[in-house]
Amino acid sequence: MEKYLINPNHKMSKINKDIYGNFSEHLGRCIYEGLFVGKDSPIPNVNGMRCDSVNALKEMGLPVLRWPGGCFADEYHWKDGIGPLENRKKMINTHWGGVVEDNSFGTHEFFELCRQLGCDTYINGNLGSGTVQEMSEWVEYMTFDGMSPMADLRRKNGREEPWTVNYFGVGNENWGCGGNFYPEAYGNEFNRYNTFVRDYNGSEKHIYRIASGPNAEDYSWTEGVMKSAKHLNGLALHYYTVPHGWSGRGSATDFDENMYYLTVTTAYKIDKIIKRHLEIMNRYDPKKRVDLIVDEWGTWFDVEEGTNPGFLYQQNTMRDAMVAGLTLNIFNKHSDRIRMANIAQMVNVLQAVILTDGEDMLLTPTYYVFKMYKEHQNNMLLDSYITSDTIECENVTMPKLIESASIDEDGVIYSTIVNTSLDDTKEIKCQIADSEVTEISAELLTGKMDDYNSFENKENVKTVPFTAFTKTADGFIATVPPCSIVKFAIK
Ligand code: AHR
Repeated sequence: MEKYLINPNHKMSKINKDIYGNFSEHLGRCIYEGLFVGKDSPIPNVNGMRCDSVNALKEMGLPVLRWPGGCFADEYHWKDGIGPLENRKKMINTHWGGVVEDNSFGTHEFFELCRQLGCDTYINGNLGSGTVQEMSEWVEYMTFDGMSPMADLRRKNGREEPWTVNYFGVGNENWGCGGNFYPEAYGNEFNRYNTFVRDYNGSEKHIYRIASGPNAEDYSWTEGVMKSAKHLNGLALHYYTVPHGWSGRGSATDFDENMYYLTVTTAYKIDKIIKRHLEIMNRYDPKKRVDLIVDEWGTWFDVEEGTNPGFLYQQNTMRDAMVAGLTLNIFNKHSDRIRMANIAQMVNVLQAVILTDGEDMLLTPTYYVFKMYKEHQNNMLLDSYITSDTIECENVTMPKLIESASIDEDGVIYSTIVNTSLDDTKEIKCQIADSEVTEISAELLTGKMDDYNSFENKENVKTVPFTAFTKTADGFIATVPPCSIVKFAIK
């Protein structure tokens, strides 16, 4: 029997809702088809945004959306995506699949999408191939209330009021596709560009500025940027779970148990990686003013056979759900320093929560994890601990059970437990310190490691009520199946 202790007397940190953010790039069928179909499409839409995707994402509790990239951000010239549709530039998306980008989804459309989703906005600016003036003018266009050339242009294009830009990224992956900078050189460029990202409407509407952070274990990038960049609010780490390495990523659906364990242990590595980057950040920023952002994370496998390799379209199994569940639990535990995270990517790309096929749409196992975990948003993380035996795979040791617990304003405790083992059913005895438990409800997501939802069988994997537990005076005793995630709501 494993022991699970939750201490509601020890509230650790607020779990910022934006840890549950998503990322959407002009890449493959993420924006075009997955989210935006245009007003004249036979697919039901409101102002061009497809209703099925928007409704599902609202249900999932999407708090914030990052756009327009990714690598696309450092090639994106925002003025190509405003004004009458017929005048917008058509060009080739050279980075992703060599297809025509007609710029029909631009700034106005992004804010309309976020309005429909009811989520906050994270815009990623172009430092790699754009000018300081271009970045500065974009911010002026989006956020200035007064009279100015860019604010007037926005009004001419039909939008009177400025929008709210909650987060602004000053470049993306500037160690690679964003210009191949050395870290200190990027830090200097960040300072130059960021100076002209103005807070037009006073400190009340301060734009939260994000510097391009490290790739996975590249600690020298963190060191160099923290040394040289000033006035940043967040540093953006990217970490993809690529179990095979980049040369042969393997199939998203056809894999064996070894590959499953290699995937979950690779995902688990993010915990150590976060800790090491934070150690470096804290040395340069002892008052911990700069947050860690993880604005790209998730699994990256080979594309589905017969699809454009530049579109990064992959299926999504219970293995992906386990990666999502354990990663979000890790992010919750680091919520004192992680302010936002954005899974890559929201629809039809990499570890997507939604897949579409023409007018058809399905929810992936990863979608259900986000939906199960949405109650953690803006709660206080609680001190908690679970005993567990471990998995060992290629020099990584990780516990089979990974959990986090939080409490909401009404005193309801939410606990999400991931059992990553493929064959161990776990008996768990949970005790909640100094508490009398009156009511518990629970939900389960489980299946075989390679189960997924196809367009022929859309509900193969989905959450179901979980009943294999007994309430005790101060907690519960539960029987948690292998390859599963359980969420408890405890009153
Ligand atoms: O998410 C796909 C790509 O991965 C992004 O465009 C880039 O930032 C990263 O390398």
